[in-house]
Amino acid sequence: MSGAGSAQIAVVGLGVMGANLARNFRSRGMKVALYNRSVDVTERVVATHGAEGFVVCRTPEELAEAVQAPRVIVLMVTAGQAVDAVIAAIGGHLQPGDVIVDGGNSLYSDTERRAVAAAAHGLLYVGMGVSGGEEGALLGPSMMPGGDARAWEIVRPLVEPAAAIGAGGEPCVGWCGRGGAGHYTKMVHNGIEYGDMQLLGEVFTLLRDGMGLDGPGQAAVFEGWNRGRLESFLVEITAGIVASKDPEGAGPLVDQILDEAGQKGTGRWTSVQAIEQGVPLPTITAAVDGRAISSRRPHRMGAQQAFGTQKARLAGVSVDDIEQALYASKLCSYAQGFDLLRTASMDRGYGIDLSEIARLWTAGCIIRAAFLGRVREAFRRDPNLPLLVLDPSFAEEIAAALPAWRRVVSAAVLAGIPVPALSTSLAWLDQIRTTGGAAQLVQAQRDWFGAHTYRRAASPDLVVHTQWDELERLR
Ligand code: 6PG
Repeated sequence: MSGAGSAQIAVVGLGVMGANLARNFRSRGMKVALYNRSVDVTERVVATHGAEGFVVCRTPEELAEAVQAPRVIVLMVTAGQAVDAVIAAIGGHLQPGDVIVDGGNSLYSDTERRAVAAAAHGLLYVGMGVSGGEEGALLGPSMMPGGDARAWEIVRPLVEPAAAIGAGGEPCVGWCGRGGAGHYTKMVHNGIEYGDMQLLGEVFTLLRDGMGLDGPGQAAVFEGWNRGRLESFLVEITAGIVASKDPEGAGPLVDQILDEAGQKGTGRWTSVQAIEQGVPLPTITAAVDGRAISSRRPHRMGAQQAFGTQKARLAGVSVDDIEQALYASKLCSYAQGFDLLRTASMDRGYGIDLSEIARLWTAGCIIRAAFLGRVREAFRRDPNLPLLVLDPSFAEEIAAALPAWRRVVSAAVLAGIPVPALSTSLAWLDQIRTTGGAAQLVQAQRDWFGAHTYRRAASPDLVVHTQWDELERLR
């Protein structure tokens, strides 16, 4: 192939996300080559959105011919086997120095495996998280590329114009780091997305079931919150959701939705990774568990029969208390997510800059939120900040929220309204601020039955084993 084509970039895989991203590139003045395994799909995109600015490619050969070298080929195919299949189909038609960008929700370890295989053929491989849903892909997503750093200078001028504009007027795309850093970052983004959604879901039930607010009342609360420190895309759409009427006339539409939450797996990957890395991630894991419990319908039916479903009203709690509990829990969830990112980055040598990641999330993505500008500043001020909640300005807010947060969690428990993410966030905070505690007894048990040793608090360098059954007992 001569590489003399006229397109600056190619998009492979023309589902809604792929087609919208291709239209986005085109809207920035780029000529975009389009390729889909089934040509019908490509033709439909062109028929619907116009041929100008697109180059329709029917075969991998035509694709390679259509794009200027070094070719930048963006894959927008479903994560998993389909990515390997498309690479197998087009890879042989590319030349050393060409760049494959996987813009799907691939598992970071798959990306690392594919990068090694691509490098063997001289191809540069980039795993790029793309967030923002269909509308984001069209108008400006947040993009999280990582992989072979030599690819960045080739890819950057193409993706920057297509990105959302975030904090400081900068595009929400930036180099995340080596290896699978881009997809790892997107995985954690999705874990945080799960946490935010679960927290909002719990708060919705507190307002509706615990306080008896109707749809417009709930909407007014979420709208108010969206004008304050909780301002974010997810709070904004939540306000819209609770205000929406059932088209079939049965009151609020949300109340008619079967309460089984789906998942494609990225939140679960985040929890699994956290466990493997030894990073506590309870808020996100509560969200993953929340979806799992919701889907286990037979268990839930049985439990409803056995234990009843009645819930009581919340006692002694205000809407402002719930705002404080939500905000503090959200901060804990982000603190856990950033802890995972930093730990993985150190272990895997990704070189992730947490302040840069917070910047990428200020616009375009699903978790975009006003407070991410402050998160960016916190990690900028102190790149070694061990936990986000230890940043003085966030710590002050959490300390101020604690009494209300405790009231909300206890009132919900007493009322029988499940708030796993709100309560486990609080438990996490209480755990990390505790000295002594359950670990003392756990260490003693380990030493008793397994001679696993322990250290004395007053002299931590000293490793001790005790014959516990020979000790004198307290009376
Ligand atoms: C995004 C979203 C997007 C999608 C995920 C989550 O950042 O644009 O995270 O990637 O919503 O696939 O989907 P599930 O809730 O089905 O896991």
